[in-house]
Amino acid sequence: AKMADQNKERTFIMVKPDGVQRGLVGEIMKRFENRGYKLVACKMCTPTKAHLEEHYRDLKSKGFFAGLIEYMSSGPVVAMVWEGKEAVKMGRMMLGATNPLQSNPGTIRGDFCIDVGRNICHGSDSVESGKRESEHWFKDGEIQEWSPAQSKWVY
Ligand code: TYD
Repeated sequence: AKMADQNKERTFIMVKPDGVQRGLVGEIMKRFENRGYKLVACKMCTPTKAHLEEHYRDLKSKGFFAGLIEYMSSGPVVAMVWEGKEAVKMGRMMLGATNPLQSNPGTIRGDFCIDVGRNICHGSDSVESGKRESEHWFKDGEIQEWSPAQSKWVY
């Protein structure tokens, strides 16, 4: 793929209710901004159970599914789409392993949590799920195309 296309990969990142309640929204966003990823969508909402059941549809058969939906629907989350080179793979790397006890220090989960059922953030695990999740959480007009090079407001 051409450089311009590589730079357009998108991933869906979400600060979960415990991340919001612990005041970690800025910390998580800062890490993606600092790394060089571009924020193209962002909103706070309290998701319904039905919305979360669709988001986590592949996990329906798991024993932790009901508890996961309960936790995720308990309060506001911050949903985001971040764009940039290998955004999906790097997003997962920056989040760390699903179980925080296996997340390396230096990752978001490795620095801020210890419980798999309270792991503060979500990140898409493939380019396809990134696209599916971004479209599930955001309507067309809510994802922004923008470029700093075109801005007349930055001096
Ligand atoms: P999963 O999609 O496997 O992980 P990830 O969020 O890293 O893509 O699982 C979704 C969420 O379900 C996970 O972030 C936390 C929760 N979960 C549990 O509560 N218990 C578990 O044993 C697992 C595997 C996940």
